[in-house]
Amino acid sequence: MLGMTIIYVHGGVSGLSKPDVVSLDAFVAAGAAEDGHLDAVERAIVALEDDPRFNAGYGSVLNIDGALEMDAGIASGATGALGGVANVTVRHPITLARRVMEGTPHALVTGAGAQALGHDLEHLNDTSVEERRRWDDATAAGSLDPGSYGSPEHVDTVGAIALDRHGRLAAGSSTGGVFGKLPGRVGDAPIFGAGIYASASAAVLGTGVGEVFLGSLAAGRAGALIEQGVSPQEACEKVLELLGHRSHATAGLLALNHRGEVGAAYRGGSWAVAGPDGAHQAPRIG
Ligand code: GLY
Repeated sequence: MLGMTIIYVHGGVSGLSKPDVVSLDAFVAAGAAEDGHLDAVERAIVALEDDPRFNAGYGSVLNIDGALEMDAGIASGATGALGGVANVTVRHPITLARRVMEGTPHALVTGAGAQALGHDLEHLNDTSVEERRRWDDATAAGSLDPGSYGSPEHVDTVGAIALDRHGRLAAGSSTGGVFGKLPGRVGDAPIFGAGIYASASAAVLGTGVGEVFLGSLAAGRAGALIEQGVSPQEACEKVLELLGHRSHATAGLLALNHRGEVGAAYRGGSWAVAGPDGAHQAPRIG
């Protein structure tokens, strides 16, 4: 038996350098106060989804048509259970993803079907004032086109990984996706093995341009390395290097093993990660 719940959270890798990267300590504290691995991950992400500074829930970026379409995924390494939602407009997509995991026989539910599952959850009619203005400005300037997709200022997401006192690992991810994406596009956050992975000995999250993770199954690759005994730090760095051979898009990987050892590495401008000891400095690679 371990001590209290160990949790690491991240606020989304950015292609831009952000000297004033926000403290994530409050989100760590929210998750660590929970006893169960899934409760810890969900609680921390719900708080992140409520904060308009992050691209998830209330602060989600808009698609090219100015509509909200959020994705989220959650997984328990202890039970192998997983759930994901895509193209939803509830305020807390992570809660809906958990409902898919625990209340349906499915692993991924999208659009209207997912919304119907969350009929009693709070609906989000619009994103934050800042994100709506950003879309208005980009549209007026004519700068929202497929050519600008995935550019440095257009990516980020949120997530949490936890190890509870029973030794159970969990991972969760939530995002508005990539600014200016096409309607119906699904990213990596709800796709097991791409942007999220959890097993008895590894929990892994990806952040960045989802297509890179979908094309490489990066979270699953890092998880497999950890299961073979590679440290989470080395696993994140190895897989990030591999991603670098395929694409220079902004990307980050965060991992935790069953001993509570953490790893994180990223490519891009900045990335806020925090855990039990406060801010966690992930090395920038490439
Ligand atoms: N990583 C978030 C997304 O691409 O949707």
